[in-house]
Amino acid sequence: MLRILLLLLPGVLSADWNVKYPSPICAARGSNVTIDCRFTYPQEQVKRVLWCSMRLNLDQMCRNSPYVYDSEANSNQNNFKYIGNKTSDCSLLISNIDQTHSEKYKFRFITNTNMWTGDSGVEISVHDLRVSMSRSRANGSTIVGDSLNLTCTLNCPGDLAEVQWFKNGDPIQQSEPVLTFSRVTAEDTGNYSCSLRNFKTTVSEEFTIYIEDVAGFSIIPIIVVSLVSLVFIIAAVMLIRRSAYTEQENDSTIYSTVMNG
Ligand SMILES: *[C@@H]1O[C@H](CO)[C@@H](O)[C@H](O)[C@H]1NC(C)=O
Ligand SMILES: *[C@@H]1O[C@H](CO)[C@@H](O)[C@H](O)[C@H]1NC(C)=O
Ligand SMILES: *[C@@H]1O[C@H](CO)[C@@H](O)[C@H](O)[C@H]1NC(C)=O
Repeated sequence: MLRILLLLLPGVLSADWNVKYPSPICAARGSNVTIDCRFTYPQEQVKRVLWCSMRLNLDQMCRNSPYVYDSEANSNQNNFKYIGNKTSDCSLLISNIDQTHSEKYKFRFITNTNMWTGDSGVEISVHDLRVSMSRSRANGSTIVGDSLNLTCTLNCPGDLAEVQWFKNGDPIQQSEPVLTFSRVTAEDTGNYSCSLRNFKTTVSEEFTIYIEDVAGFSIIPIIVVSLVSLVFIIAAVMLIRRSAYTEQENDSTIYSTVMNG
């Protein structure tokens, strides 16, 4: 049945030995990564499929173990799941990926007459999501009314698709990778983090923004308070001097009265 199907598929009869890998993959730590892979061969029957990593596989060609996936092994690493088949799809799923998985992987398959490793392989790099800030005020504290952007970034070329933002650990309604505050208020103070949508496990470290509420200390109220104080001080000084003068006057009145008597 399978043989008939293969005969009917165009191109299969004349196919060369080949493995077609995707372009290098850049992934967020904690996400699931699918390596989309296809393989071709002349009319043969595939017996065994294998994936190996260049860090562990010393000959760099998957000729010997260890493998990250081996269709004949009883137990494979938990993170590596073969989601392809033994005909043309060699896709591999790496779940909950982390930095230790950053490396090059190759696919090998064994048929009834031959064995073949796709030489080029696929390069995977894994990074942490990060929150970065840009703001209108270059240095010093962030003050109420400033504009500020928080960006969810991955150290990879290209833009992130949908993300999930968190403030103090609680999800907030925002799926754009840039969180824009055109005028910050004191309530925007908090710890912000982001993750890929649907992958809470990719969550970044928290980034703290502290908005200083300096409205009560701005320069105009300070001038007003100073002026009012000055008026009071002057008034007080005048009052004291005046009462002192009055006392002196009274003394001299008494003196003159005595003299006259
Ligand atoms: C990631 O892969 C694992 C293992 O296959 C699976 O259990 C999990 O549901 C996947 N996560 C998502 C968000 O697809
Ligand atoms: C924030 O982002 C918006 C739009 O992406 C941009 O117009 C603005 O200049 C940015 N502001 C700062 C402070 O970086
Ligand atoms: C930032 O700080 C530097 C020195 O630390 C100072 O020369 C510069 O004027 C400041 N810029 C702003 C916008 O406050």
